[in-house]
Amino acid sequence: MENNADVLLLKSVGEIASENPEKIGVFKKYGVDFCCGGSKTLKDVCEEIGIDKFLIADELNKPSTATTEKDENYSLTKNAKEWDVNFLIDYIVNIHHTFLRVHIPEAESYIEKIANVHGNRHPELLKIRELFTKMSQAMILHLDKEEEGLLTAIKTGKTENIKKEIEDALYYHEYVGHILKEMLFLSSNYSVPQDACASYKHAYELLKNISDDIMIHVHMENNILFKKI
Ligand SMILES: [Fe+2]
Ligand SMILES: [Fe+2]
Repeated sequence: MENNADVLLLKSVGEIASENPEKIGVFKKYGVDFCCGGSKTLKDVCEEIGIDKFLIADELNKPSTATTEKDENYSLTKNAKEWDVNFLIDYIVNIHHTFLRVHIPEAESYIEKIANVHGNRHPELLKIRELFTKMSQAMILHLDKEEEGLLTAIKTGKTENIKKEIEDALYYHEYVGHILKEMLFLSSNYSVPQDACASYKHAYELLKNISDDIMIHVHMENNILFKKI
């Protein structure tokens, strides 16, 4: 992407992420919320979180390396903005909803295990377990509601209640996003302590993958799908 810094700073972070998904890694590095907070301009976000706007604009303008693209695994969704709405919905459901339905229960059992074993020495695990339960209950409920309500309505063209359905989805995304941020903070970005056992490492890896996946999932809905309809 080649953008004058001033032009870039006035764009919304959601727009930048959907036009250049390979740059999402830069947003993650600086803690920029590009999914739920996607409608804010880059300039406003920088002011809010206290980072140098020209530093980040400069980094976003640098050509991306093959490694960043590979690491972030964005090659598949690179042109998602151009996708047909039905294809986009199928992709979101088949990839992201399925991912959560498979991995949430697995993560739940690992967190339960490590909170019981290591909760005394690492009390943050008890809080993380509580937050994860809250987040997953809301998320699973949301996936069902979204598929039966909003996504079916878009596919079948029954758009009478669509505004309300989108508001509902945005509410859930915000709620889940808030919990994820708290979990990231408590776990210091899912860095495992020195004394961590294999289950501890696996649990944190699962949580990190779930968190990364939700960020892309919400970004695809808020900044791409909802903008199309
Ligand atoms: Fe979804
Ligand atoms: Fe959603």
